[in-house]
This record gives sequence, structure tokens and C-alpha cells, in this order.
Amino acid sequence: MIKPDYPIRTRRLTLRPFTLDDHAALHSWQSRPDVVRYLYGEARTPEETSERLARGMAVTWPEKEGDHLALAVEKDGEVIGETVLKYLNEAHRQGEIGYTFHPDHHGNGYATEAAAAMIELGFANLGLHRIVASCDAFNEPSWRVMERLGMRREAHFKHNEIFKGAWGEELIYAILEDEWPGMADTPWGPVGG
Ligand SMILES: CC(C)(COP(=O)(O)OP(=O)(O)OC[C@H]1O[C@@H](n2cnc3c(N)ncnc32)[C@H](O)[C@@H]1OP(=O)(O)O)[C@@H](O)C(=O)NCCC(=O)NCCS
Repeated sequence: MIKPDYPIRTRRLTLRPFTLDDHAALHSWQSRPDVVRYLYGEARTPEETSERLARGMAVTWPEKEGDHLALAVEKDGEVIGETVLKYLNEAHRQGEIGYTFHPDHHGNGYATEAAAAMIELGFANLGLHRIVASCDAFNEPSWRVMERLGMRREAHFKHNEIFKGAWGEELIYAILEDEWPGMADTPWGPVGG
């Protein structure tokens, strides 16, 4: 396990742990109904954003199973989104990625670029063997990110849970360490400290 030096730089983005100063930025998307449409929970109140920020700041590297690393994603000094790497299982070296960006910054490949950096961290720094991502089957922008990253669709669950009052559908994507080409030859890398 190699804890990275922050900030992490991709071609266009800077990723770093959240600080208290990020409340307004985080709240700017977490408070939007269109952003949380396919996420658990409703649009966050400022207090809920504070709780989430505190949880995010508590983990700057996933040292143990169950830790969730959340990084703020900056473009030209502005925080435009967040991306997560969850350490799901130590014995089986399993992890999960996630991402949420402000709608003003959708459609530029930033979520894909930031998520690629999280996959790289998961394999190269955390020593994971398999990384998954999941989303609502109707959240097409999200599963398109997974496909751009080269993740494989492993499952399409139907009615596996009641989501926001109706039967939901969930997609599971995954990538193995030997399926990941690394960042160097992708449009998103390389990753630098
Ligand atoms: C999921 C989410 C992050 C995806 O955002 P996105 O902007 O579609 O994804 P990206 O930042 O990777 O951008 C990809 C789009 O930019 C385009 N693009 C433009 N320049 C690009 C570049 N240099 N590289 C890659 N894609 C580029 C792609 O073609 C793609 O558009 P398309 O889907 O119409 O083909 C966003 O919809 C979101 O924040 N949703 C709310 C929260 C949420 O649901 N999160 C996921 C929970 S599972």
C-alpha cells in the first residue's frame, strides 16, 4: 500500500482531500434534485452537506476495509466535482469507485478522467485486484463513464430494491487489475503527484 502525495494531477484536473472551505462547492451540487435523482437520499440540506464533508475529510487514504476515500476534483482552481474510492474488502482486494460532478461541468470527460485516477490509485497504490462501480440502470451518463473506462457490465439487476418509491434496476460494472491499461496511454493520464 502506497499512500499518494496530494494533490494528484491528471491531464486537466487536480484531485485532493476535501477541506472545510469546500462546503459551498460541495453543496452547490449536493443540494440539486437533478444531481441526486439517481443517488440514495434527497437533495442535501446545508447541515447534511456539513456531515458529508466531515466524513469525507476524516479519511485521506483508505487504510482499512470499509474506509471511503473522497477527493475533491478541481479544474483551474475551482472545485467542480467529487470522486470516491471505497475499500470494500481487504482479503479479496476489492474496491469500488464513484463520482458526482456539478452539471455546469458535465459533458467534458472530467468524471471519466477523475474516475480513471481513482482506478489507478486502487490498483497501483492500494493493491486491489478488482474494482466495481454500480448505478441505476436509467442513469445512462453514469454507466457510459464506466464503459469509457473499459469496465465490463457484469450484472443488470431488476427489481432488486425499492428505490425512491418504485422498483429499481441496478447495473454492476467491474474491471480487474490485469484489464487496466494504466493511465499513461489513456486520454486521461498520466497521474502525477
Ligand atoms: C455521472 C456523471 C458524473 C457523468 O457526467 P458526464 O459529464 O456525462 O461524464 P464525463 O465527465 O465523463 O463526460 C462524458 C461526456 O463528455 C464528452 N466528452 C467531451 N470531451 C471529452 C473528453 N476529452 N474525454 C471524454 N469525454 C469527453 C463525452 O463524449 C461524454 O458525452 P456523451 O455521454 O454525450 O458521449 C454526471 O451525470 C453526474 O454527476 N450525475 C449526477 C450524480 C450521479 O448520478 N453520479 C453517479 C452515481 S452512480
